[in-house]
Amino acid sequence: MQIDILTLFPELFTTHFETSILKRARDAGLLNVSVHNIRDYAQGKHRVTDEPPYGGGGGMVLKPEPIFDAVQAIIGLNSDSNQARNQFPIILLTPQGRLFNQSIAQELATENRLILICGRYEGVDERVRQQLATDEISIGDYVLTGGELAALIVTDAVARLQKGALGAEGAAEADSHADGLLEGPHYTRPETFRGMQVPDVLRSGHAVKIRQWRREQALRRTWQRRPELLLNANLDEEDKQFLMILAEESIHGM
Ligand code: ADE
Repeated sequence: MQIDILTLFPELFTTHFETSILKRARDAGLLNVSVHNIRDYAQGKHRVTDEPPYGGGGGMVLKPEPIFDAVQAIIGLNSDSNQARNQFPIILLTPQGRLFNQSIAQELATENRLILICGRYEGVDERVRQQLATDEISIGDYVLTGGELAALIVTDAVARLQKGALGAEGAAEADSHADGLLEGPHYTRPETFRGMQVPDVLRSGHAVKIRQWRREQALRRTWQRRPELLLNANLDEEDKQFLMILAEESIHGM
């Protein structure tokens, strides 16, 4: 997968892609991330990328021309932005976008290429939304100084879903949120730490029981912390029966 990130601050991206899983994914050829400086596509001696908004109101707005020119140059087209829009997602990171989650990460992970545009200052000229971006994503209901951290988060979540990016086969399938549930607890050695024991079942070697215990822990944790997720989770009959037990426990104050 190819990810192109357009930003006024390319230096913000250098370290993240050089470490751990993302580096391995790049080295294995599963992922290539290119970071482009929007300023390189701005015109004139001063390469101006932002200007005050029409109508006043303070703050600065990113100009449309350098962003359109950058996208067109990156994907090798010279004029028709509609042509570019049909090829792959061109995503504007903005607090006004749809709220990012694991299912959007999974959807984006199936694409061959993504273009991520990082907004800055008060915002981006509306014509970028109208004529260039095919999608708008927010990473949460708060306002950051720009879309760069959001682009890092989207890239990270999508990159680790590329087949082979994670060490263990199936690791992504067991993630929190992968099937709509939070993950249950994990333990490693030592068996006893400051008086706290690893649950017996995990040391039993009984694969079926371990799987059942993990599923129940995931259900319990989701029930306790994010019950609204259960409405859209993938649940079978056994899961539902266990949820009935949890419901009874909470009614009877256990
Ligand atoms: N830019 C500023 N705030 C943002 C947010 N919450 N999500 C995505 N991009 C942003």
